[in-house]
Amino acid sequence: MRALADFVYTLSWRLPGRTWRRLLAFAEAEAESALELRCAAALTTDAARAARYLEHAADEARHAQILLRRAELAKQAPSMLPRRGHAHLFARLGEAAFLAFVHLGERRGRRQFEAHVRFFEKRDPALANALRSILADERRHEAYTAELLTAVGEPRATRRARWLDRGMRWRRAGGALTEPLFALTMGLLYLLSAPLAALVRRGPAGWR
Ligand SMILES: [Fe+2]
Ligand SMILES: [Fe+2]
Repeated sequence: MRALADFVYTLSWRLPGRTWRRLLAFAEAEAESALELRCAAALTTDAARAARYLEHAADEARHAQILLRRAELAKQAPSMLPRRGHAHLFARLGEAAFLAFVHLGERRGRRQFEAHVRFFEKRDPALANALRSILADERRHEAYTAELLTAVGEPRATRRARWLDRGMRWRRAGGALTEPLFALTMGLLYLLSAPLAALVRRGPAGWR
């Protein structure tokens, strides 16, 4: 199972065009986080927390630029990220569940960046260094969101955030799978219909 996971992980970076596309997708996710955090800073009633959200937003915006630059170096990716929206998570969830949601995302992000740094350590040291600089921030984000979550404290916040997180990841995975799955199904249908075509050609005239 481990070997299969390693194989799929390697493939996810190694297929032609995958490295820069993945880096670009990371950059977009970081830019979206920055928007969510700026919104949170505007909506929270606590000035100290607003300052921390803004600081965090600045980190995420910087990460987006670093990753975009690495995507550009890997291939001709666009030099600017497309303007995009965000999910207005703070307004939808309230501060406690928002913090829990961000904390879950930061923890997952930190684990993923650890794996990416390990993967590129020898293959592309410059990229590994860029990822390592992001990783240091992600660790800090993971820690401060846990600290604020305890301070804001609402028992059901983490559970609500977890459900939303699962739902969003499920929809995202569905979106990514739709196109290849459609191509595969149509390809199979095409192959399977080949004998049928021969049968129709050879069958009684009435079949036509
Ligand atoms: Fe980040
Ligand atoms: Fe982060």
